[in-house]
Amino acid sequence: ASLEGLAAEAPATHRIQDRTDAPTQVAEHGFRNAPDTDPSLPANQAWAAGIRERARDSRIGIDLVEAATLRDAAALESTIETAIAANADWRALSGDERAAILHRAGAELEARRAELMEVAAAEAGKTLDQSDPEVSEAIDFAHYYAERARDLDRVDGAVAVPARLIAVTPPWNFPIAIPAGSTLAALASGASVIVKPARATARTGAAMVEALWAAGVPKEVLQLVQLGARELGDALIGDPRVDRVILTGGFETAQGFRRIRPDLQLLAETSGKNAIIVTPSADYDLAAKDIVASAFGHAGQKCSAASLAILVGQAGRSKRLHNQLVDGVRSLTIGMPWEPTAQMGPIIAPAEGKLLEGLTTLGEGESWVIEPKRLDGDGKLWSPGVRAGVRRGSEYHRTEYFGPILGIMRVETLEEAIAVVNEVDYGLTSGIHSLDVDEIGTWLDTIEAGNLYVNRGITGAIVQRQPFGGWKRSVVGPTTKAGGPSYLMPLVDWRTAEARQ
Ligand code: ALA
Repeated sequence: ASLEGLAAEAPATHRIQDRTDAPTQVAEHGFRNAPDTDPSLPANQAWAAGIRERARDSRIGIDLVEAATLRDAAALESTIETAIAANADWRALSGDERAAILHRAGAELEARRAELMEVAAAEAGKTLDQSDPEVSEAIDFAHYYAERARDLDRVDGAVAVPARLIAVTPPWNFPIAIPAGSTLAALASGASVIVKPARATARTGAAMVEALWAAGVPKEVLQLVQLGARELGDALIGDPRVDRVILTGGFETAQGFRRIRPDLQLLAETSGKNAIIVTPSADYDLAAKDIVASAFGHAGQKCSAASLAILVGQAGRSKRLHNQLVDGVRSLTIGMPWEPTAQMGPIIAPAEGKLLEGLTTLGEGESWVIEPKRLDGDGKLWSPGVRAGVRRGSEYHRTEYFGPILGIMRVETLEEAIAVVNEVDYGLTSGIHSLDVDEIGTWLDTIEAGNLYVNRGITGAIVQRQPFGGWKRSVVGPTTKAGGPSYLMPLVDWRTAEARQ
């Protein structure tokens, strides 16, 4: 086939995108992943430069957050009552009808790609290469869960009964995709939603919600809130009219929610301490590149990030692998997202507590291969750090730091490497670099984590292709897979009925 012929046959969403001409088409014929912006096109470079220019002084979402801030218990009460009253009409829609609105939400999110990236840069310091795929993921969630809403009507022998109200409490590290995914899933299931974006990224969350309202989700059904007082958060989680809570956050936060309300139906994606194993058979060039990207993308602030590289046998003694890793990390340029050369942005807030400890202190036997340096006055901009000599069972081995630090461990065998991975309390993402099928098979059979990646990076799960969610302390509540076929199932109650003939 000629190239021209192939291009004509390519699905619309897979054509090279010129973002100055954002598509607003609704995907009607099955699910396809939304493409990220192609940065090699001059038109897209100009588009990105415009986003960077606006990001520094962006005011997007300020008024909306102000209007959404609840000051007292009476305001929370009225929000809950309104959401529940509005649910009567929302739950009465068929799956097809809800799906149509969700598909429109996907188109709205696409049309607002630049605006969402602008506000995520302003609030979270997200560089555009990180926020662009986040918008794509949010769009994917809209179209994917639209189809899952239809599925709920088609389960043989059982009727899906929607929850009336689901509270969504997303994190700041994926301020577009995660609030969008959880909210869209809950809406698709027929519930009303109260979404409280993380305080640090309240404006990005608000901009996302605005896209959903513009698509036709009634404002009463989808309520955006920020909480003006701490006790309001406890009151929301503790309110028995809230049928379920979808949380993405730390394991301790999930435990806190459980303490507030022991019988809470909680669906929580929590922490991770993720490793990439490199065996002697690996392609070291590829391994080094994937470790750097997985450890330092968004300054390591991903629950999926690699914070341990476990080098097996001669991989651990290879000068070449070591040099490539060090070169890769040293050549990262650090800066604010409005600086076009910045490859790694700031951390969300001045380093403190565990993270500050991880950036500034070493455990027994450890040494800095690259010592992290504070680059600004207030402690948000740090250069990336690499520590060697991490010992099995040490604090660094088992702790999630959520920042730009990578630890290197050496072990003698693959079995030992797998044991090191499985010893941590969490089980979210995990990677192996190996060109030996037996090694890969052993690893796949025994590693305790929800998202496994072979010979590639371990972040950036793609809707439908890599449904996302972990095991062990990486999940609280039922094991769920965001962007997977069964994600909506635990959001509804199931009714079966039979009458005696
Ligand atoms: N889903 C996000 C990732 O895979 C957290 O990186």
